[in-house]
Amino acid sequence: MIKADVGSVAGHTTVHPQQIEVARHFLEEARQRGAISDYHVTHAGDDVELIMTHGMGENHPSIHELAWRCFKEVTEKVSRPLKLYAAGQDLLSEAFSGNIKGMGPGIAELEFTERQSDPVLIFMADKTEPGAWNLPLFKIFADPFNTAGLIIDPKLHEGFGFTVLDVIDNITVELKCPVEMYDLLALIGTPARYVIEKVRRSDGLPAAAASTTRLSLIAGKYVGKDDPVCIIRAQYGLPAAGEVLEAFAFPHLVAGWMRGSHHGPLMPSSVNDLQNRVSRFDGPPRVVGLGFQVSDAKLIGPVDLFADPAFDRTRETASLVADYMRRHGPFMPHRLGPEEMEYTTLPEVLKKLKDRFRKV
Ligand code: F6R
Ligand code: MG
Ligand code: MG
Repeated sequence: MIKADVGSVAGHTTVHPQQIEVARHFLEEARQRGAISDYHVTHAGDDVELIMTHGMGENHPSIHELAWRCFKEVTEKVSRPLKLYAAGQDLLSEAFSGNIKGMGPGIAELEFTERQSDPVLIFMADKTEPGAWNLPLFKIFADPFNTAGLIIDPKLHEGFGFTVLDVIDNITVELKCPVEMYDLLALIGTPARYVIEKVRRSDGLPAAAASTTRLSLIAGKYVGKDDPVCIIRAQYGLPAAGEVLEAFAFPHLVAGWMRGSHHGPLMPSSVNDLQNRVSRFDGPPRVVGLGFQVSDAKLIGPVDLFADPAFDRTRETASLVADYMRRHGPFMPHRLGPEEMEYTTLPEVLKKLKDRFRKV
């Protein structure tokens, strides 16, 4: 999974269909010459999402470069000529330099040996940051009130290991659930700093991977939210697809939304255009999900995971929470706290007032 915001229509609302077309064409060509096994191009709000399968393993420069060139092409062939908003936004460097991590686009990679049948679920968020996955990933792999299999299925009973990244100091720690559950929660309850990067079953089986890019930390200033992605394998000794989805039935509060500066509910939406446009107050933060079967590295599907009336109530609740949060206007906790606001344009405003303060 590699994604980027390379420009959008009507501000940051959604992608242009030609952007998707150009990206598809680019990856189809790559598939035909054998550079990748299969692909699916979609979008989450204003982000172009490249779902790819290949046999090169994680962190392979040729795959990273392929995605980079694809985003460049979309930018040059569509975003710039149509003067789309924030054309090329997430391509922070001029040229590709070996690893796409740290260059702007978000990336989540999961290397695994296909099981007899391998359901893989892809989640893509818009107008939020990587820490947004902390709560659902915890619920999916560690909370028996969400995932019945943790209790009922002996194959899940030994629990899961979480790799947590400290995005400020750039260090990681491995924590095992259920034994170290409280330690894990002590960290990931601070989603702006500690983000879950990988989840493995106790026997080492790769279960999930999430993107961890924090654009503001790379650029040193606000350049749009990171809009993270996440890959989750399901079934047969892993949480069932329905247990994975259940974690999104609660529209929890995440950081992002307007100007990347507000807390708002994460609203699960269909990928179809009617729900996949991020409009109100540039939000509310959105998650779309696609489900596949991976068969000899081919992507069979997709299933539009949140296009189910069973999620209507979650969307209604999210709208209600959006109203409630919005009524705080410029006040915390709707607006983010000062540490997070450091990477926005607020410090410039505060600087203007500096000389006007008098000693008490
Ligand atoms: C959110 C986001 C938008 C912009 C907002 C202002 O990730 O990118 O909410 O921050 O639309 O954009 P400018 O300053 O370009 O007018
Ligand atoms: Mg945008
Ligand atoms: Mg976006």
